[in-house]
Amino acid sequence: MDPMDLIPAPRSSRWVPPAAYDVLDTDTRLEAQPGTEGVARWFRATIGAATGLPFPDGDDDDNRVVLSVDPALAPEAYRVVVDGYARRIQGGSAAGVFWGAQTFRQLLGPDAFRRAPVTTRREWDLPMVVVEDEPRFAWRGLLLDVARHFLPKDDVLRYVDLLAAHKLNVLHLHLTDDQGWRVEITRHPRLTEVGAWRGRTKRGHRASELWYDTPHGGFYTHDDIREIVAYAAERHIRVVPEIDLPGHVQAAIAAYPELGNTDVVDTAALPVWDTWGINPNVLAPTDATLRFFEGVLEEVLDLFPSPYIHLGGDECPKDQWKASPTAQARIKELGLADEYELQSWFMRHFDRWLAERGRRLIGWDEILEGGSRAKGRAPVESDEEEGARHERPRDEERRQGVRAPGGETTSLGLAPGAAVASWRGYAGGIAAAEAGHDVVMCPEQHVYLDHRQHGGPDEPVPIGFVRTLEDVYRFEPVPPGLSPEAAARVIGTQANAWTEVMENRARVDYQVFPRLAAFAEVAWSTRLPAPAERDFADFERRMTAHYRRLAALGVDYRPPGGPLPWQRRPGVLGRPIEGPPPNV
Ligand code: ACM
Repeated sequence: MDPMDLIPAPRSSRWVPPAAYDVLDTDTRLEAQPGTEGVARWFRATIGAATGLPFPDGDDDDNRVVLSVDPALAPEAYRVVVDGYARRIQGGSAAGVFWGAQTFRQLLGPDAFRRAPVTTRREWDLPMVVVEDEPRFAWRGLLLDVARHFLPKDDVLRYVDLLAAHKLNVLHLHLTDDQGWRVEITRHPRLTEVGAWRGRTKRGHRASELWYDTPHGGFYTHDDIREIVAYAAERHIRVVPEIDLPGHVQAAIAAYPELGNTDVVDTAALPVWDTWGINPNVLAPTDATLRFFEGVLEEVLDLFPSPYIHLGGDECPKDQWKASPTAQARIKELGLADEYELQSWFMRHFDRWLAERGRRLIGWDEILEGGSRAKGRAPVESDEEEGARHERPRDEERRQGVRAPGGETTSLGLAPGAAVASWRGYAGGIAAAEAGHDVVMCPEQHVYLDHRQHGGPDEPVPIGFVRTLEDVYRFEPVPPGLSPEAAARVIGTQANAWTEVMENRARVDYQVFPRLAAFAEVAWSTRLPAPAERDFADFERRMTAHYRRLAALGVDYRPPGGPLPWQRRPGVLGRPIEGPPPNV
């Protein structure tokens, strides 16, 4: 195995001639220069545990590894030099040093990914190499849907480590949905007392007749969240919370029925949802609802230092608002054209609310709907009423970027700092980038990891398109044809793991790996050519080493030959979509 089989591929790596190995041993010291103390902690706790080497502090010996910040490098850039004289990990900031330490760990071989040594030998070969590297994108994310199936805190911490090992730096936690509310909110305790639990769970696609009859649930306390955020921060990973609204809220309505459209449904009778799909029960557009969620967000802001707060905004059916006299009165009172603008009003309220508190809204591309007719109009929800809405002068004003009360907005009617996570394809992201918004590209056709990764009959609960390891490897976050200014607005990319049919950590591992390794190379590597020219054979060759790293980490990845017997789910209905995904 070649120690240079690094994943993600660095910008440059070379052996120092004559290709030879240095040796780390029990006398090897670790010198942490100013600003690298946290990396040294991680190094001893992780590489120290795997190797059995103590790495005592010290700068008084030739036998040492030196961690240092070199301000001449970009913040996340790093250089690893092992040349027979020195062993240096230098980064433009502590983050760069940390990514360099991740490369250093890969250089030590797969056993460096274990938690304890597997031999009594306390000498570790270290290839004499120079690696120079930096990321392509600032936002390199994974979404974990902990709402559909709860992922216990320990599993989330483990995913933080798995992200770090792949030089990914954003963990997007989808904390709330119809099927569960997963974060303690002190002022609204029923959100977790009631909203975090469901009596049973649909097993497989919603058309399946099977159920898990064991009650399911769980939530993170404030201290759990603080621990996750601090653990991630020590690993230079930002945790972005998502509180989804005004749709995907049945769990909240089950806890507090007054949040729903009480004039059209008996919201007091709604349980936490036990099946899957797009749910009609959405928030009532009342002042009380706004105040309720402001209260939620005050606690969320307190727990999550992330500059970005994700407020969902996706898949909000308009039927209840159409039927609700209260919602219709609200539309009239606000001078809105329709229910799409009502949704837009919801999102813009919180967009402003966040901006006033120094934070930035990020939302799914539906946040471009309603009041942004010129661009970013929903491709899936365009309907026959569109023409009528165009007649309204308000639309014309919005198109031209008229200032909304309470703050500056772009031509899309959002605060300039608002960002869009483009999931229904590239179109929303393109529209947002062209209007000057930051964009995270995560098109479902390419990087939704719930989609099956092989067309064969053994894939567990197969849903969606076939998206193989190679498909993910050939995903390009910046679509062709963007102007350079708009392309620069694509701040990154994210893979999304929705967990309707992933009932536990092993199932999440199976869907996420190995594809996250290919995704990490897409998100990180500055060396990848256009998709068709990417050397997948070389990536697959490097994956031989990477499978051994994943195995050492205890990841239940999908083996290249297909699922192992216990990874299959015979008889559980999925919903495969035949043919290639539409060209978006
Ligand atoms: C989404 O997949 N509904 C963001």
